[in-house]
Amino acid sequence: MSGPQHPADGTPGEVDLDEFRGSDVERQTEIATELDGVTILHRRERFPVPGTKAERRAERAVAACFVMAFLGALAFTVFYIVLPWQYDISNKDYVWFTPVMGVTMAISLFGFGVGAVLWAKLLITEEETVQERHSGRSTAANRETTTAILADGIGMTGIARRSLLQRALGLSGLALGALAIVPLGGLIKKPKGELFRTGWSQGVRLMTADRRLIRPGDLEAGSIATVFPATPDGLTTQVVADSVVLLVRLRPGQTVRARAGQADFGWEDYLAYSKICTHAGCPASLYEQQTGRLLCPCHQSQFDLLQDAKPVFGPAARPLPKLAITVDDEGYFVAKKDFDEPIGPSFWERP
Ligand code: FES
Repeated sequence: MSGPQHPADGTPGEVDLDEFRGSDVERQTEIATELDGVTILHRRERFPVPGTKAERRAERAVAACFVMAFLGALAFTVFYIVLPWQYDISNKDYVWFTPVMGVTMAISLFGFGVGAVLWAKLLITEEETVQERHSGRSTAANRETTTAILADGIGMTGIARRSLLQRALGLSGLALGALAIVPLGGLIKKPKGELFRTGWSQGVRLMTADRRLIRPGDLEAGSIATVFPATPDGLTTQVVADSVVLLVRLRPGQTVRARAGQADFGWEDYLAYSKICTHAGCPASLYEQQTGRLLCPCHQSQFDLLQDAKPVFGPAARPLPKLAITVDDEGYFVAKKDFDEPIGPSFWERP
């Protein structure tokens, strides 16, 4: 094999571009690799005779993997659209949403990855090369010859003459695109007032998770109860997530310094606070009745109920929102109105 020699000092060698341009791809590759100090030690076509049964079998295996990637992404897209995902205490189907998304995405990525590996192992020309290291900017000739090497590399994949693989690869490319784009669909609908409303409004009674309405005599002094709006959907969908409230009965002698404008939000020794931690939204429900402190187990924020749920320890920065309550004519606890303050953790529109 004759061709340009790569100088020992590491500078790029010379190449006769006229000769280079007049050569076939294989010869161009030889010239280019020698110019760049690359020696091909070993090069072998996987299938020297194109179109054999073995080659078609290998091609079909690779194509099957790409089709699997496509089907995984298709299932991901369909399930993303049709599966229920909203929390609903009366219908647990939403629990399948995340696992199904994960499994279908895994199938798609696995198919694409295995397809790419099989293609390299079974179909692409086997080649072993060594290259000396050199520094400095590439010459124009280097750049042109590198282009030829890349063209040869693409040629070695056999993609140009394998229409089945072209189609399968196109499908799996579509699949990968879908995996990235479909979840963005959830961002299309801009929330309106949902983030600022809960299931509470004037006259809505307080009930437990087993739909028991609450009267003042139901709680011992110093105890708490988790309550929801006693409406038909009070235990379903997003209403629960936003509306869950901790009803607290103070111990005798405990008093609360109420926030400005909220002095009449409690009823006798009862107070009602949002149970959703203002740090990151965990349920704050570990109540220490002697001190009147409520602990959020996630990051140890503490809210002092005797200071009207002011955060006194940990990362939470806002007090727990307080629900104004009273007792109706039939003796049941009811809300006077919805919360005055936003519920849960801070976000971009909220302090
Ligand atoms: S979510 Fe409550 S302290 Fe972080």
